[in-house]
Amino acid sequence: MANEANNFPELISHCKEYGYIFQSSEIYDGLAAVYDYGQMGAQLKKNIRDYWWKSMTQLHDNIVGIDAAIFMHPTTWKASGHVDNFSDPMIDNKDSNKRYRVDHLIEGFAEEQKIAGNEKLADEILTTMDALIAASDYAGLKKLIEDNKIKCAISKTCNWTEIREFNLMFNTQIGSVAGESDTIYLRPETAQGIFVNFLNVQKTGRMKIPFGIAQTGKAFRNEIVARQFIFRMREFEQMEMQFFVRPGTQMEWYNFWKTERKKWHESLGIPTEKLRFHDHVKLAHYADAALDIEFEFPFGWKELEGIHSRTDFDLTQHQTYSKKKIQYFDNDLNNEGKPYGNYIPYVVETSVGLDRLFLTIISLAYANEKWIKEDGTEDSRVVLRIPAKIAPTKLAILPLLKKDGLPEIARELMDDCKGSFMCFYEEKDAIGKRYRRMDAIGTPFCVTIDHQTKEDNTVTIRYRDSMTQERIALSEVKKLVLDKIS
Ligand code: GAP
Repeated sequence: MANEANNFPELISHCKEYGYIFQSSEIYDGLAAVYDYGQMGAQLKKNIRDYWWKSMTQLHDNIVGIDAAIFMHPTTWKASGHVDNFSDPMIDNKDSNKRYRVDHLIEGFAEEQKIAGNEKLADEILTTMDALIAASDYAGLKKLIEDNKIKCAISKTCNWTEIREFNLMFNTQIGSVAGESDTIYLRPETAQGIFVNFLNVQKTGRMKIPFGIAQTGKAFRNEIVARQFIFRMREFEQMEMQFFVRPGTQMEWYNFWKTERKKWHESLGIPTEKLRFHDHVKLAHYADAALDIEFEFPFGWKELEGIHSRTDFDLTQHQTYSKKKIQYFDNDLNNEGKPYGNYIPYVVETSVGLDRLFLTIISLAYANEKWIKEDGTEDSRVVLRIPAKIAPTKLAILPLLKKDGLPEIARELMDDCKGSFMCFYEEKDAIGKRYRRMDAIGTPFCVTIDHQTKEDNTVTIRYRDSMTQERIALSEVKKLVLDKIS
């Protein structure tokens, strides 16, 4: 069976056509790098989020979840370092006025060289770039751009400004009077809501180290280069977990979560060969070790999740800025039989973008299949092979005809199943057409109620992935679906 999948523009139109993802405020020509999830997309996103939440907070008995506000006291961002350090090096082309993130500009050029067969040059450029970024050597980076005659995609010139830093946080005013002191930020990461609540959760939950606090929620970044559909957005959702550990044990936990998180992605059906680790060359201001779990997206290997050893940086900063003691009393015994005592815990963070994971799942699921039937004619379908456990609709219930009591039986089955999982009822169009529509939205199971159902209480169940069909008892349908999605 031929699969012409992973054609990215086709996937984007498919997401729109079947109610997965729409451009935000499309009737006003959209807003760059902001997207809305439609009826199918919102459900798939919720299922992915629930799967993450359950794996963190239900399957680990030492991790609890919270839901902190998006708005936080402005000092939070001063303490965390985001006001001073959360910026990217940018360069402008003087002829087109187009602004580029320096690493994206150079990576794009290296990619072109690879495609043109100049692999060696591409690797050399990327290695040099990594070293210059690690040393924050902006003059060196500009020279690298100029020496390689890297051009602006619009003006096609090499007329570049100096490299400058741009802060990525959005700000707004709180209350009715605008002024410096009223400026607050839209959070650029959910993590700080966890740090400022560390003591609240530890005390009220009687948590003992090591333990984790998990959270999902919106984050906002004024990304200058926003591209590749929902890969890089200005408003996006994160699923983060801060794991608080005894100082000195952070590398042990860093390695634990590195392995654990890769396994988790594989449990969602992501093939192991499509995932890889990438160690950071330049560490963020808060980290003593960091890596990305990368996925091979249709446009290349890119970051899906970050694992960061954040030391005691954030809690120490919040202790300093708030002038409130943020410490943990560890009364477990050390080698000398004494309590470990008071300390500021170290933190290992796992941080995955929900939208990026959505893009990962949907780009793996999308397939445009063609095959030759037994009679020699060609057939085709577009299918979303979304794993059944996270598919937005689990079961389509399809009466063969709109009469003869078949819709009544179908409705009864729908009433029996809809409390347990998402069902879709459809009685319009020929059955083949209805199956194709269910393939296109990714429904893993279809059940057809026909005249034989009235005689022997059996139905036809059709499996999306194999397209095979079998006859089973009507009374078995709910159990079969529950077994497959659990
Ligand atoms: N708290 C740590 C943190 O925010 P990050 O590497 O900047 O670390 C974590 O972000 C994850 O959030 C990334 O791995 C990515 O999946 C997602 N992410 C970051 N920026 C994004 C954006 N502009 N659009 C979509 N997802 C984004």
